[in-house]
Amino acid sequence: MKVRKAVIPAAGLGTRMLPITKSMPKEMLPIVDRPVIHYVVEEAIKAGIDDILIITGKGKRAIEDYFDRSFELEYYLREKGKIDELRQIEEIGEMADIHYVRQKKPLGLGDAILHAEKHVNGESFAVLLGDDIIISNKPAIGQLIEVAERRNSPVVGVEHVPHELVDKYGIIDGKKIEDDLYRIKTLIEKPIPKEAPSNIAIIGRYVLTPDVFDALRETPPGKGGEIQLTDALRTLLDEREMFARRVAGKRYDVGSKAGFIRANLELSLTREELRDEVIKLMESILREVRDG
Ligand code: G1P
Repeated sequence: MKVRKAVIPAAGLGTRMLPITKSMPKEMLPIVDRPVIHYVVEEAIKAGIDDILIITGKGKRAIEDYFDRSFELEYYLREKGKIDELRQIEEIGEMADIHYVRQKKPLGLGDAILHAEKHVNGESFAVLLGDDIIISNKPAIGQLIEVAERRNSPVVGVEHVPHELVDKYGIIDGKKIEDDLYRIKTLIEKPIPKEAPSNIAIIGRYVLTPDVFDALRETPPGKGGEIQLTDALRTLLDEREMFARRVAGKRYDVGSKAGFIRANLELSLTREELRDEVIKLMESILREVRDG
């Protein structure tokens, strides 16, 4: 198996971030000075993927504009001699070979993935969900690809979460077979804590094989009335082995308000030109809060 393609579902309505997502795709929310989806695309590229399919939907035009060339802006920056800015803008327009397909109705993650069938054309493929930004030395999706190619099997990225939060995630039950690697026994979408087989949660990274499409087609609506990828993967378990890789890295759930704010603060500290100023700012805010 060789993984060359990535699918990024970006058709979700972003209800956890309302009201801003009423008129703006959640994938375009800024983390420091670039949209969430920029980090996700960058992760895929760093993992050696050069073909990306973004599943969009209503109100998602800004994503396509972001990755497109912008000749007016490039012309303006060149005229003004703003060369660094110009380079940056040109690079975004050339980041990868990005394709788009539109999901007409928001029927869930499983349905969104079905829209990728034609594009992936019988190959195994990576899936990256835009709610998670993962900062790591080795790109998170690359960690999964390594296992998937070695074992010739689908792989999901996982992380241990506090037990009371299991109902926010797909949860796996698995047998540990190596450091940070489980053979999956079952998967269940957003169980209530007392029914969860573990606290090992699926984060938004997957490597899938093309047989997932048949499984998805046979999957009835599940949690929230949506076609759930987790349910399709459970069906597929009857036919093949599947693995869960505990991802090394720091994950930010940027689809939630607190996670979004945290990502902005922490990632600004990784930017040399901002670091000192932001630390001073945080210190002064804390002083003001404490001193009332
Ligand atoms: C989706 C998946 C869930 C997974 C989660 C990770 O849920 O259905 O299994 O744990 O992404 O972010 P969502 O957060 O889109 O409701």
